[in-house]
Amino acid sequence: MKDYILEIKNLSVGFNIEINNFDKFFYALNSVNLSFERNKIHALAGESGCGKSVLINTILKLLPKNSLIKSGEIIFNNQDILKLKDRDFRKIRGNKISLIPQDPFMSLNPLYTIENQMMEVFSKNTKENLDKIKHALNEVRIKNIDNVLKSYPHELSGGMKQRVIIAMSLVQNSDLILADEPTTALDVSVSNSILNLLLDLKEKGKTIILITHDLSIVSNYCDTVSIMYLGDIVEKAPSSELFVHPLHPYTRALLNSLPSKRGKKLENIKGQISPITDVIDGCKFHPRCECVMEICKNNKPILKKYNDCHSVSCWLYDNFNS
Ligand SMILES: Nc1ncnc2c1ncn2[C@@H]1O[C@H](COP(=O)(O)OP(=O)(O)OP(=O)(O)O)[C@@H](O)[C@H]1O
Ligand code: SF4
Ligand SMILES: [Mg+2]
Repeated sequence: MKDYILEIKNLSVGFNIEINNFDKFFYALNSVNLSFERNKIHALAGESGCGKSVLINTILKLLPKNSLIKSGEIIFNNQDILKLKDRDFRKIRGNKISLIPQDPFMSLNPLYTIENQMMEVFSKNTKENLDKIKHALNEVRIKNIDNVLKSYPHELSGGMKQRVIIAMSLVQNSDLILADEPTTALDVSVSNSILNLLLDLKEKGKTIILITHDLSIVSNYCDTVSIMYLGDIVEKAPSSELFVHPLHPYTRALLNSLPSKRGKKLENIKGQISPITDVIDGCKFHPRCECVMEICKNNKPILKKYNDCHSVSCWLYDNFNS
């Protein structure tokens, strides 16, 4: 039996948005169902605006005031965290679940040295705890540890700050690490070294959910991938399977737009992702889909199993679905 660290069930989340002086509710996540097996790197991929951060912020209970969770459960280590009081959830966030953000500067306090803020994880400032911090910084391959400990965040490069954040999740001993585009702000070589650190974290038994819009990262680093489009999970599979046998036209378009496809003409995905305020009937991808059929315009396909490990929501495969 599979050991899931996190299970998202029927999760629907949206925002109240003011239109012509009236608040109207729009969905950003629609009945999302996802299960994350322990000790793997799981990718969540899709274009900008498809709902990746809303999903991560729902797990972390960091949604803004105008949001509303309409339905769903988020089961972390057999407990529905949506039912926990904020006070109880704060013991989990930054402890059992930690975040590696897109911009590491946002989660480091500019007024404290790295040592002071890493020490905050512990209740006591002791030599033993300092040794634990140094050990974690060593694990993320920081060389000049004493200098880094004395530094303020603005004195470190982007890559170094990201290493410090990853070291913090090691000190906190988090089981689940949510990485929201952790390398977008970094150049390619630094980015690769940070992604390699995620592989090290997996070796240490951690589970990582890696948000990205870059499928080339997925093929090199992730065990599974879920493709999102406008708040729906449209395809999910082990990454090895998805790259060999992509099913959903959106996934195929994402893959065709990858710069790594040498010798093949790059294709841009037709059109643009719509804002959540545009309500689209039927399959939400239909205005952009090369394979659109009549049924797609008014009937929304649901995510169904294509085979034991691969699911897709698309009318093209409905004959295969039970
Ligand atoms: N506070 C908010 N109020 C209204 N709409 C919001 C709010 N936060 C997010 N949205 C909308 O929800 C949708 C999903 O946003 P989200 O930030 O999750 O996208 P994303 O997939 O993370 O994109 P990116 O790759 O650019 O980070 C977008 O249409 C966005 O405009
Ligand atoms: S359901 Fe139709 S419009 Fe949607 S992706 Fe499949 S073929 Fe394209
Ligand atoms: Mg985002």
